[in-house]
Amino acid sequence: MIKEANYTRLCHEKAILTVNGQFPGPTIFARKGDVVVVNVYNQGNKNITIHWHGVDQPRNSWYDGPEYITQCPIQPGANLTYTIILSEEEGTLWWHAHSDYDRTTIHGAIVIHPKLGTTFPFKKPHKEIPVILSEWWNADVNLLLEEARRTGGEVSISDANTINGQPGDLFPCSREGTFKASVKSGKTYLLRIINAGLANDLFFGVAGHRLTVVGTDARYTKPFTVDHIFISPGQTVDALLEADRTTDGSSNGRYYMVARTFASNTNIGFNNSTATAILEYADARAGTPDFRNLPAINDLNASLEYTALLRSLGSNDHPVDVPTHVDEHMLITLAVNVVPCEMGNGTCEGPERHRLAASLNNISFHLPSVDILDAYYGAVRGVYEADFPNKPPFAFNFTDDISNLPTERWFTKRGTKVKVLEYGTVVEVVFQDTAILGAENHPMHLHGFAFYVVGRGIGNFNETTDPAAYNLIDPPFQNTVTVPKAGWAAIRFRAANPGVWFMHCHFERHSEWGMDTVFIVKDGKALQSKMMRRPPGMPRSVRPSLPLVPAAVSRPPPLRPPLPGRRQLSPPPVGSSPPRPSRPGRPSPPGSPAVTRLRRPPPSRPPVPSPVAHPP
Ligand code: C2O
Ligand code: CU
Repeated sequence: MIKEANYTRLCHEKAILTVNGQFPGPTIFARKGDVVVVNVYNQGNKNITIHWHGVDQPRNSWYDGPEYITQCPIQPGANLTYTIILSEEEGTLWWHAHSDYDRTTIHGAIVIHPKLGTTFPFKKPHKEIPVILSEWWNADVNLLLEEARRTGGEVSISDANTINGQPGDLFPCSREGTFKASVKSGKTYLLRIINAGLANDLFFGVAGHRLTVVGTDARYTKPFTVDHIFISPGQTVDALLEADRTTDGSSNGRYYMVARTFASNTNIGFNNSTATAILEYADARAGTPDFRNLPAINDLNASLEYTALLRSLGSNDHPVDVPTHVDEHMLITLAVNVVPCEMGNGTCEGPERHRLAASLNNISFHLPSVDILDAYYGAVRGVYEADFPNKPPFAFNFTDDISNLPTERWFTKRGTKVKVLEYGTVVEVVFQDTAILGAENHPMHLHGFAFYVVGRGIGNFNETTDPAAYNLIDPPFQNTVTVPKAGWAAIRFRAANPGVWFMHCHFERHSEWGMDTVFIVKDGKALQSKMMRRPPGMPRSVRPSLPLVPAAVSRPPPLRPPLPGRRQLSPPPVGSSPPRPSRPGRPSPPGSPAVTRLRRPPPSRPPVPSPVAHPP
């Protein structure tokens, strides 16, 4: 149940959107291979969708969630029953709103335990501790977003980082709420760490303890032990903590858990705050907890050193299967750009009074007003173009100092361009950061797949020499890769999941500005390699008048997903008089009131000719 609730942080009370009144939202517990059914009732005041981040949803992009990519939003008063099909994922994932900036407060953990009869590939932990890292804004974030959309400028930075919704002891009015985890000496705990924040890469560590990383993005890793982890928005880390301290001697048995921003570009605004929680031994004495120092705010090397330690587990039960042959190579440049300001001469608030934008291969993604999945399924023309390029339109020294770049490089084209793949294609994507308006890390996230991160480096990717150093033995298997500042990262995946899959930077402002694209994976020949049929009850378009052209290809008969171990998210609390839950497949009530919403600059505006030359 999505509804507003009042929360107070940093001495400011405000109404935020929540799920079941909780912030962070409720945890979904499941086992590997389960199918989870979640009824979402929108009792909030705006359109919303929910995404199950890192769940591959085989053949089921219908319920993936990104607004105007795979569905139209759930309007206020309406509801939607999502079917979440787990397959290979095991470990920690999360769910979040995938509309506007709603995920600021609408997010929660997905905990996927091993199948019955199987176990963790490490000693069973005594208990699990959720560590959801996020951000708090004193202001209403969607108002800040509207303002940024109007002016073409930055979205204001948050006022605090948070751990499980709390900024912690170092902030005013926050001491009482500080998250505390109590532990017993001699026991091992599994920390399920999620970076649910919108803008910040983070370092995280626990005073007096080291962390043994055993998984990331719901896949197991070779264990390694560190003082702190590094985690980008979208990623998860599973780490073991040995509670091996005693209260003998100087320590009082209380230790800070600390989360702090890593800012890869300190020329732009960033949140320079430290969130804390407390690890408390059963026999702790009163007093100030020990503190853990984390790497400096701009310590790029610390982030690279950590990331280089990630390796797939590669055991018999959890084998590695890196594609060695690549069918399609893509080089995708990531850039923060501008587009000309449409509000008369020089009234936007981006650099040089232009409107801020961001792009992939110099195309700034424009969100359509009907969803791409329906347009693809119904063969509706005019919603997207299938010509997202495999290369940037021009080569230059991508990571050179910005002052060496002519100003016309700042500008990007806009469009709704997608990449279409034949079923089963093995794709290698090299993400290349550019310094156009400042080099920066980018957590690139792909829906519908996890991928092997086979290589990464600083500078310009060299297609002749760099692949020789790829790790094709045990690269980490992730759904969100941190592309390093002024560097590159190479991923490989097999396009064996038919459907429509969003790919974007998980820094919310970059995604908002257009650092996004879509992969459409076509149906294969076998029944099990075709998309499922459109389920009934999907939300209607806010603009229902688009011409529906009959599908060019006839669709296969309905295929139901296997339904072992169905689980329901706990129903909304009593007393909130929810609408009756609808069964999966029952259409939601028609005629929900249309909602006026502020969108990106309207598509009706004539396309602005980019001053940058594109080859024909
Ligand atoms: Cu975490 Cu497109 O999402
Ligand atoms: Cu980015």
